[in-house]
Amino acid sequence: MAVKLIKVAEPLVGEEEVQAVREVILSGQYVSGRRVEEFEKRFAEYIGVQYAVAVANGTAALHTALAAMGVGPGDEVIVPPLTFFSTVTSVIHAGAVPVFADIDPESFCLDPEDVRERITPRTRVILPVHLFGNAADVDGLRAVADAKGLRLLEDCAQAHGTEYKGRRVGSLGDAGIFSFYATKAMTTGEGGMITTDDESIYEYSRLFRGHGMPERDTHTILGYNYRMNEIEAAMGLAQLDRLEEGNRQRIANSEWLRAHLTEIPWLRVPKVESYVRHTYFWCPLYIDEEKAAMGFADVVRTLRDRGIEVRQRYKRPLYKQPIMAEHNFYANGKPWNGGHHYDAEPPKYADLHLPNVEKVAGKLLGLPNHPGLTQDDLEYIVRTLHEIGPS
Ligand SMILES: Cc1ncc(COP(=O)(O)O)c(C=O)c1O
Repeated sequence: MAVKLIKVAEPLVGEEEVQAVREVILSGQYVSGRRVEEFEKRFAEYIGVQYAVAVANGTAALHTALAAMGVGPGDEVIVPPLTFFSTVTSVIHAGAVPVFADIDPESFCLDPEDVRERITPRTRVILPVHLFGNAADVDGLRAVADAKGLRLLEDCAQAHGTEYKGRRVGSLGDAGIFSFYATKAMTTGEGGMITTDDESIYEYSRLFRGHGMPERDTHTILGYNYRMNEIEAAMGLAQLDRLEEGNRQRIANSEWLRAHLTEIPWLRVPKVESYVRHTYFWCPLYIDEEKAAMGFADVVRTLRDRGIEVRQRYKRPLYKQPIMAEHNFYANGKPWNGGHHYDAEPPKYADLHLPNVEKVAGKLLGLPNHPGLTQDDLEYIVRTLHEIGPS
């Protein structure tokens, strides 16, 4: 008998999205217009900020927000080494130099103390990622940023609705960014958003995403076409209506799984701070390969054979990516000088060692936890995890 596959992620969609998109298609109005404006307004309200700017994807949102904060050649931005790669590449696209700091071993997010150590006269922005739906130590990072006059840009691509001390992430830094990629807690297929209370970041972001064009045929800054279209925005509005229902179910599933896995000696269930509302984009578990008596790849294969799809990211700290070690950033192969006007030696990423991230990279497993799971699915996952491992 074929084993039913319990998928690790499934979008929560229905007739409302179909109707909304159909209406746009039939209207013939596809280019950024009233639906994008409404999506921005409602998303800003949801996050608890004054302004939101919708863009083509989360990576474009990062690039735009960095540019709007004035980041450019000669600057450094402090980033975590455990995240999706575009948190880092967006800094390079802005012409600046990414500087990696280590993570906290429980939250897997930037450690403020290590960030402090890596600040130089060239640092402009601290860019924490609220990884897997958890929240980074915002107060700690804010204190470090304020002491040095730095900006804080929150990467909330995995944390729609995550709260830190009662406030939604994306409203806590100078700006936040979100992704609406297909697997995220809400999706527009591809899409992104910048959130901020800072009017100058808002105004610059709007210009930057639209060819630097304040009015037709006038270009005042170097911009891009990073616009969101009406089809995406219509889907986004319908998805925003469902977000909290999905979050509640994903949190309930994840908390149930976590509570039933604490006794497995080869698994570590990471601690979540009491003042964080973790929205569990992922339900991460740390696999102790020695105690499991099998390697990480075998755990993944065994689960897959038993019909449980899992996530397994991020395999290595991002400073170990080949492109970073070789500074291989330009198509013409010319060496990177760390950006024009950069008055220091570009970092030697290949020589970097950050102990906390190196302990966990490649050993984090994400269990299925999406809102479509049944109680039977959850019980099957827990039973299977109890069955595998050392006999
Ligand atoms: C932490 C993080 N930052 C940035 C991005 C980039 O978003 P996008 O895929 O929409 O460009 C993603 C994911 O996809 C992400 O997970």
